[in-house]
Amino acid sequence: MAWGAIATWRMAHEGVEQALRLLAENEQAGNAVEVLIKTVEDYPYYKSVGYGGLPNAAGILEMDAAYMDGDSFKIGAVAGIQDVKNPISVAKKLSEEKFNSFRVGDGASAYAMLEGFERKNMLTRRAHRIWEKRLEEIRVHNLNPYDGHDTVGAITLDKKGSMAVGTSSSGLFMKEPGRVGDSPLSGSGFYVDSEIGGAAATGLGEDLMKGCLSYEIVRLMGEGFSPQAACDKAVYGFHEKLTRRYGKAGAFSLIAMNNKGEWGVATNVEFTFSVGNAQNEPQIFLANKGENQTTIIEPITKEWLEAYEKRIKAPID
Ligand code: GLY
Repeated sequence: MAWGAIATWRMAHEGVEQALRLLAENEQAGNAVEVLIKTVEDYPYYKSVGYGGLPNAAGILEMDAAYMDGDSFKIGAVAGIQDVKNPISVAKKLSEEKFNSFRVGDGASAYAMLEGFERKNMLTRRAHRIWEKRLEEIRVHNLNPYDGHDTVGAITLDKKGSMAVGTSSSGLFMKEPGRVGDSPLSGSGFYVDSEIGGAAATGLGEDLMKGCLSYEIVRLMGEGFSPQAACDKAVYGFHEKLTRRYGKAGAFSLIAMNNKGEWGVATNVEFTFSVGNAQNEPQIFLANKGENQTTIIEPITKEWLEAYEKRIKAPID
């Protein structure tokens, strides 16, 4: 039986390893995707997700997350949630609700408290210091304030053929209070149908939601496209259309897996991801946009990984 997991960015690799171990032991896709994303949310050096995530322009960390079950289409999502340890778990719990399953702001945080989720100050000293420095840079150099929006998006397939998808993000660095990106939006940030496959996005939410690319990729896989062909067609087709009609396209990258455990990615920026399945150990790859609506995918190098490790842990003066 096929099974597998794929997730956005190098930051998700340890979570993918954990999810694959669970899936090999017959764990459900939904639980595996939750564990995968919690691993990223809990790591303090990832500054775009969960604990250690960067705050908004007012210095407040507002997080977005979503969960979808590919068997039943159940969806739960939170946006602008604060001071909760694992937004993905709140989203998963919300997916069990028939009504009120997408909560924002205080309503989301209150639901989490009522349901017994762990309260935690998610803003680390390091993230606060990065925010202070950025404010100063913007003031002195008159920079565009917006920078960084790396979401963890993940898709899992279990041995019974069930699929699930989850996302979690602290959103665009320096976003205005109340701004919500694509990550909690069905069709834009994520989509999954166990009879076909799933997709998830990372990148500039404002542009991703113009194309509903996660749904589009699943729709194309349903028409018979392989995950790679579906990603290439949806992502590069939309990149071109948006550039022509809106004048520019922000950075975005999409991942997909079908219900046979085959996978694909497409991106308009340098993009890393981690993937494994029944046949292949989890591995980190580097993807770039190629010629004629194709994607160049190569294994990550040791040098790249070492430089990354240094970069994320570099002291903040
Ligand atoms: N993709 C994350 C965001 O734009 O908030």
